[in-house]
Amino acid sequence: MRSLTAKELRQLYLDFFRSKGHAVISSASLIPENDPTVLFTTAGMHPLVPYLMGEKHPEGKRLCDVQKCVRTGDIDEVGDSSHCTFFEMLGNWSLGDYFKKESIAFSWEFLTDEKWLGIPKDKLYFTCFEGDKDAPRDTVAHDRWVEMGVDPSHIVYLPKKHNWWGPAGQTGPCGPDTEIFYDTGRPACGPDCKAGCDCGKYLEIWNNVFMEYNKVADGVFEPLEQKNVDTGMGLDRTVATLQGVESVFDTDAFSGIIALIAELSHKGYKDDPETTRAFRIIADHTRCAVFILGDQRGVTPSNVDQGYILRRLIRRSIRFASQLNMPRYALCTIAERVIDQYGEVYPELNENREKILTELRKEENRFADTLKKGIKEFHKLVANLEGTEIDGVSAFHLYDTYGFPIELTVELAKEKGVTVDEKGFAAAFEEHQKKSQAGAEQRFKGGLADNSEATAALHSATHLLQAALRKVLHDDTVSQKGSNITAERLRFDFSFGRKVTDEELREVERLVNEAIAAKVPITCEEMTVDEAKAQGAIGLFESKYGEKVKVYTMGPFSKEICGGPHAKNTGDLGRFEIKKEEASSSGVRRIKAVLIHD
Ligand code: SER
Repeated sequence: MRSLTAKELRQLYLDFFRSKGHAVISSASLIPENDPTVLFTTAGMHPLVPYLMGEKHPEGKRLCDVQKCVRTGDIDEVGDSSHCTFFEMLGNWSLGDYFKKESIAFSWEFLTDEKWLGIPKDKLYFTCFEGDKDAPRDTVAHDRWVEMGVDPSHIVYLPKKHNWWGPAGQTGPCGPDTEIFYDTGRPACGPDCKAGCDCGKYLEIWNNVFMEYNKVADGVFEPLEQKNVDTGMGLDRTVATLQGVESVFDTDAFSGIIALIAELSHKGYKDDPETTRAFRIIADHTRCAVFILGDQRGVTPSNVDQGYILRRLIRRSIRFASQLNMPRYALCTIAERVIDQYGEVYPELNENREKILTELRKEENRFADTLKKGIKEFHKLVANLEGTEIDGVSAFHLYDTYGFPIELTVELAKEKGVTVDEKGFAAAFEEHQKKSQAGAEQRFKGGLADNSEATAALHSATHLLQAALRKVLHDDTVSQKGSNITAERLRFDFSFGRKVTDEELREVERLVNEAIAAKVPITCEEMTVDEAKAQGAIGLFESKYGEKVKVYTMGPFSKEICGGPHAKNTGDLGRFEIKKEEASSSGVRRIKAVLIHD
């Protein structure tokens, strides 16, 4: 088995799939576009949803990539050997091209062939979907592994909970998967220990999803027009396996960062379990914060949405850094190391270096002031506690007055052996949001993933809105900072330094409605990023040089790089009406608008 660095594995993976006719595409932004169902890109398939649903991809039907991902659902697990909030996912894709047999053959060759990873065949174990009322048992995948030479005793069938990959939101493309595990050689945890068991003996290294269904509602699965393959391999985790180390934090991806934390804290990574945990949390969270701050659609710390997650990550890191007595602004020093390490693969980190460091410093200043006071307040609270639970209103007070994310309060409470009424906190939070009219976002309503006409029309209206804003505000620097579409409304965030006046908003509305009244066809062309730029297309130029992108044109009104889908004609959109204009974060404005069909 070859022991590879993260850099080598990234390259080898792409080389392998390139040799199998796959085009290498760039990582999309960490902030999903037009998808209200999740805050971050959580898997490689996420930015590709329109193409899995049948939109044509400009680079063809076979793609591979390394996608930046953030998953914060597991944030409390960070500190163990395998959980990270940020990770890179290696993926290969068939958009209605090859299916199970080829996908399995590709994976087998890449994993076992000496020319590639050369993993001993007997170390690999597999799971396949056992079948239920929605889809049959996946004997095709099972039999294909056997054809490859796998001993049937190394393959187990498991139910949907294990072997089905669902959409990132609630609806969208999905299907059964087959997962590939590496046997670490550790003893089995019991007689039922087998691939899929999470005791640590079997490490999942790759997941091949056969996306042939569209989940349209709970329990309702319709066949997709095309059968797709979506695979995902966690980069750090596979490197840890190949390097034979105990955790992702012991790989070359983290060793420089861990060494720096040791230098800054004058402590040893393996001094004791608590110190190890603190090192890992600081390393993971700082890396994640750097990627979020340095993203193409950069986010800054705030009290809502992505900005809140970012704030949580930074503040949690700072708390552990102060526990280790690290100097002030230590996070900035670590962030610089992260940027240096990843800047070559993710140039946006270098481009945003100053912004990343400035924002980290600012957040540290903000937090330092409140942390001390808040901890004092917290201790007072615990000392005066009747019973063993901190009530929701007090927890909200810590949040509201001292900037304590609820997770921080819960964590501190745990250390004191008391609990927090988290439901009570959520209720107090909601009450506050209602009062300040900031919340009530229906984030979890179906999004573009359902591909419905309503969302496609709102998406087209978003393009017209951006074009109109640029015209009315006479400002070419007005650029998209976020877009979020539900079936009912669009929400568009854009860079602009002041409030947009009522007159300006009315003029923007008028221009959008003029484009709608003109009933121009919405056309799509494929071209390289540079051609798109030369034609004056706007949009996020996140693709690499020479890579093909789709450009949507709406007559003389709008030309924008975008994945789609869109309405066919501006005449199909209905009447455009702006409902609200407000600040989203510093230097960023937010517009909510609807399309009315009289
Ligand atoms: N979507 C699957 C996953 O995230 C495979 O890429 O595991």
